[in-house]
Amino acid sequence: MRINKYIAQAGVASRRKADELIENGNVKVNGAVMKEPGYDVQEGDKVEVNGRVVEGQQKLVYVLVNKPFGVITSAKDEKDRVTVMELVKDIDERLFPVGRLDYNTTGALIMTNDGSLTYRVTHPKHELGKTYRALVKGVISPEKARKLRNGVDIGGYVTKRAKVSVIKGNQNSTLVEITIFEGKNRQVRKMFSAIGNPVQELERVAIGNIRLGHLKSGHYRKLTKEEIEYLKNC
Ligand code: URA
Repeated sequence: MRINKYIAQAGVASRRKADELIENGNVKVNGAVMKEPGYDVQEGDKVEVNGRVVEGQQKLVYVLVNKPFGVITSAKDEKDRVTVMELVKDIDERLFPVGRLDYNTTGALIMTNDGSLTYRVTHPKHELGKTYRALVKGVISPEKARKLRNGVDIGGYVTKRAKVSVIKGNQNSTLVEITIFEGKNRQVRKMFSAIGNPVQELERVAIGNIRLGHLKSGHYRKLTKEEIEYLKNC
């Protein structure tokens, strides 16, 4: 197995990050620095990352968490705020978030120790749809919904096609379901701001066809076999 995949599958880092570690000379094979990302790990090789031995593939775990408001999507926070790691602390394996949700966005987030899956799912070419329920200020007219679908300028970038449906609303606020097939930083918030309807609350309700359903805030569930297969084939 290629060394970057080996490191990713061991849950040490994503495949991209593994490439960086290799390039930066943080990886050794049998005691010698290995800078060849294509190196084929052999049975019996001792692989070390930053001086720590990386064992072969561990048990792979995949969960869907319902991220609460005010929780950070990262492994560590320098300001000591609660991170998503806290939500899965009763799981022995060290899981990492797949992609990210803003501090003040709630909802569906996948966590796993399968670096290869993380790599696939977060790679821009896969364009897995992410569905959000956005409570926004003001009225979303059919014309505004059309703009959101066709692409809006969010500061030098025009968004790709999106799916948009207005669920309900009044003069003050509107609940909209929106599916985007890309993931620019704070994209949904920027899209609504661009049309003059700032987001008041944002919840991700689905990643591809994996839905949050009735999962309670702060809880997690294991992904089903079918869901894992679906992600592997996306
Ligand atoms: N878009 C946003 O604006 N925020 C998120 O957390 C996810 C998508």
